Formats: sequence, structure tokens, C-alpha cells
Amino acid sequence: MARPKIALIGAGQIGGTLAHLAAMKELGDVVMFDIAEGIPEGKSLDIAESGPSEGFDARLKGTQDYADIAGADVCIVTAGVPRKPGMSRDDLLGINLKVMKAVGEGIRDNAPDAFVICITNPLDAMVWALREFSGLPHAKVCGMAGVLDSARFRHFLSLEFDVSMKDVTAFVLGGHGDTMVPLTRYSTVAGIPLPDLVKMGWTTQEKLDAIVQRTRDGGAEIVGLLKTGSAYYAPATSAIEMAEAYLKDQKRVLPCAAYCDGQFGLDGFYVGVPTVIGAGGIERIVDIKMTKDEQAMFDHSVGAVKGLVEACKGIDETLA
Ligand code: APR
Repeated sequence: MARPKIALIGAGQIGGTLAHLAAMKELGDVVMFDIAEGIPEGKSLDIAESGPSEGFDARLKGTQDYADIAGADVCIVTAGVPRKPGMSRDDLLGINLKVMKAVGEGIRDNAPDAFVICITNPLDAMVWALREFSGLPHAKVCGMAGVLDSARFRHFLSLEFDVSMKDVTAFVLGGHGDTMVPLTRYSTVAGIPLPDLVKMGWTTQEKLDAIVQRTRDGGAEIVGLLKTGSAYYAPATSAIEMAEAYLKDQKRVLPCAAYCDGQFGLDGFYVGVPTVIGAGGIERIVDIKMTKDEQAMFDHSVGAVKGLVEACKGIDETLA
């Protein structure tokens, strides 16, 4: 059987890391597309030359031609510009919307059967626009945010509790931004919910609140340190986890930006929710009941995403 084909649209910091991880995990052959001539070619060759030492079998190719992504099983989209210090993800909207149009049409014309994972920010609006421009089925287009946000939350919690990150689970809903909703009652250490751990004296409510806030600001913390761009190791790893779930039909339960049509009371809208990812793409959305407080936070987050989608419609009338 031929190896799966993974197309990476955008060969920048995240794109390069995606290619390296996909090759090392032998998820398939990799095609990197970028408008910057030489960058995808150079990164592909460099990673391919690590193959003999690492011992992986994967072909890598860089290109400026969308025809080379033909028949891709998975497309991961990072094309666009990242934030600089002082910028919010929303500041990227205008420029990255134009990029989503070109990318959406390129995928529509060359890889219409692919499972598409969007990473470009502002994520929830960009994945919506990418789906509109590509015309692919909603279940085959999703956004990577929740896996990353919950990974950040799990990392911070593991430090607080001095336990393995593997034993910490986290549940994050809503938009990928300052309004994201980490649900503490569904986040656990080996099944023990965080509110119980507060009662057990493992941490205090104040410390937990500070960790939730650090999670919300997790992207900005990295931007502030790097100064020249945004995070890429953890975002790439998160998207690879989603791609692997699709390619291996793992039926993983992962939070991601998915199209909700009825679920969570939403009417045709992309936002971060728990999903089941398998060979069908987004096979299910896990529609949980929220408390009044959680619902209020979720509604606030959805409101922010809706505002960005309206702004997209204002910029590109074909979306209205
Ligand atoms: N088509 C293809 N590639 C493009 C296009 C386009 N129309 N426009 C820009 N690119 C490429 C750039 O040439 C660059 O190589 O996208 C790449 C983006 O890479 P980086 O600038 O290194 O950004 P990165 O850190 O990878 O982040 C990409 O993901 O997390 C989000 O906010 C982040 O929106 C940003 C995206």
C-alpha cells in the first residue's frame, strides 16, 4: 500500500516542525508548499538528510506549485503571518484572510478528499473562512487549538502537582484566544477532578485561577519571549496528534475547532469543542452540558469568534 501523503501549506516555523515530526513518526510522504521560493525545498532536503541517522522512511519535497499536493490525505495549513509582541491574534485577520482564500482554492482544486487542519490565526475565524473558500465537507475541515491549549494547561498543572504530564487530563472549550474556557471540573489528575484536588490541599483556588490565566495567555507568553514570532514546537506537535488520529482511524477524543450545527446550541459555527477524530474526519462532537458560569464564559468566547467571522464577511464579500 502506498504511503499516505501529507501536504503542509506554509513552510515556516510551524511548517518545518510539522515536516520533521511527520517524517520521524513515518506518518507518510511530505509535500511542503510555500510562496517563499527555496524555503520548502531547503527544509525538505535538510529533513530528508536526517533520515539515514534517524532511520525513517519518508520522501519529502518542497514546492511552489499547488499541483504537487494532488491527492493529499491530510493538509495542514500554517500559511500566513504570525504575531509579533504587542499584537493579538485578531490583528492578523485581514492579511491571513487573503491567504486563506488562495489556500482554500488550492486545496479545493488539488486535494478535495483531504482532511484539513488549519493552524493559521485568528484560528476560529480562519478555519471557517478556509472551509468556505475550499467548499470541502465540514467534517473534513477543522482547526488546531484545543489540543495545544489543553497541552499547555496540562503542562502547568503537572508542574504545580509535581506529577507526570501523562497523568494530567485537561478540558478546554471555546475560541483560541483570551476568551478560551478551561473547564476545571473536567480536568483531572488520573481521574481526580481539579476542584477535588483543591479540597485535598494539593493546590489552592488562587493558584488554580492563576494557572487558568497562564493557559489563556500561553501563546502571548511565548511571543513575548521569542520577540520574532510565535510558538511552533507545541503547535506542530498538537496538529500531528490530530493528523495521526485521522490517518490511523484512532477515534481519539480531542478538543479542536469544529463545525457545530446544533451542538452546544450553535447554528453553523466553528469553535473549540471536544470531538472524536477518526477516518471520517470529525466523526462526532461531544456535546456536554455546562453549568451556568461555564455557559456564560462559553457564550462570551463564541461572541468574540462571531465578531471575527463578521469582520471576515466585511472584508471579503464572497463570504457574506
Ligand atoms: N501561501 C503559502 N504560504 C504562504 C502564503 C501563501 N499565500 N503567505 C505566507 N506564506 C508562508 C510564509 O512564506 C511563511 O513561510 O507562510 C509561512 C508562515 O510561517 P511563519 O512566518 O514562520 O509562521 P509560523 O510561526 O509557522 O505560524 C504560522 O500559524 O500559529 C499560527 O499565528 C500563527 O498565523 C500564524 C501561522
